[in-house]
Amino acid sequence: MRVAVTGATGRMGQAVIGAARERGTETLPVSRASERIEGFDASPASNLAAVLTSESPDALVDFTAPGASVEYAAACAEAGVPLVTGTTGFSEEQVEALRRASDEVPVLYAPNFSRGVSVLDSLVREAAESLPGYDIELTETHHNGKRDAPSGTAERLLETVEEAGETTGRTHGREGIQPREDGEIGVHVRRAGDVRGEHELLFAGNDEVLTLTHRAESRGVFAAGALDAAEWVAGRDAGWYDFGEVLAA
Ligand SMILES: NC(=O)c1ccc[n+]([C@@H]2O[C@H](COP(=O)([O-])OP(=O)(O)OC[C@H]3O[C@@H](n4cnc5c(N)ncnc54)[C@H](OP(=O)(O)O)[C@@H]3O)[C@@H](O)[C@H]2O)c1
Repeated sequence: MRVAVTGATGRMGQAVIGAARERGTETLPVSRASERIEGFDASPASNLAAVLTSESPDALVDFTAPGASVEYAAACAEAGVPLVTGTTGFSEEQVEALRRASDEVPVLYAPNFSRGVSVLDSLVREAAESLPGYDIELTETHHNGKRDAPSGTAERLLETVEEAGETTGRTHGREGIQPREDGEIGVHVRRAGDVRGEHELLFAGNDEVLTLTHRAESRGVFAAGALDAAEWVAGRDAGWYDFGEVLAA
């Protein structure tokens, strides 16, 4: 198994390269920086399509930024290389561009590659369905370098609550005189230190409070999930795939 890794100098790029080394997966680091990184050469991202064509990796694992991921998806489509991307913060147009790439190659997108968050999503659905009328508040915390807010995982969990429960809209933070309204979902975002990722859903009503919390303790959990996804997606037909399909396999 050999995977190309874009964003090789990034936090997640480094975690993926480290996790791949531990499981004996060969990596082909790719970076805008195109410099020597901790003992191995990175290929230049500006030349990605040619790099993918000449090196033929089994998949590209991408944790970068939305604009870059869209470019890298086009390069994968051109070179016939499956794409696994965990980048978050895509606009609708950017998701459409990723979907266009999935006409040519397998594309697996997940805003969170942890198994625990997948279970959290199921538990949140059950709680939202089973506790009608309860107040719901989501709080997420990430490191101070994170760009998008709320996190892609928070967006996914909010969509789950909205599908499963009877909600009226999201309220992002509160300030001044702003009483809670029935059906609203409170959304609270914290950015501090090097927190890997925490998501808490609180359900309150009927003189009781239920909280569901997930805490990632290392980026290794996301890197391992993305590499599992790369192994699963390699050799599949072109199409749009979900991390749930990897977990169900
Ligand atoms: N799905 C998940 O499970 C999961 C988990 C953690 C993080 N994430 C997401 O993964 C993405 C990367 O997170 P991170 O913490 O690794 O970020 P980071 O440390 O800032 O690294 C991002 C890397 O992407 C590359 N890049 C290419 N084009 C870029 C651009 N236009 N702007 C910024 N960077 C660009 C850069 O590497 P080069 O210069 O080497 O190309 C950069 O170092 C974020 O969207 C984050 O939310 C997802």
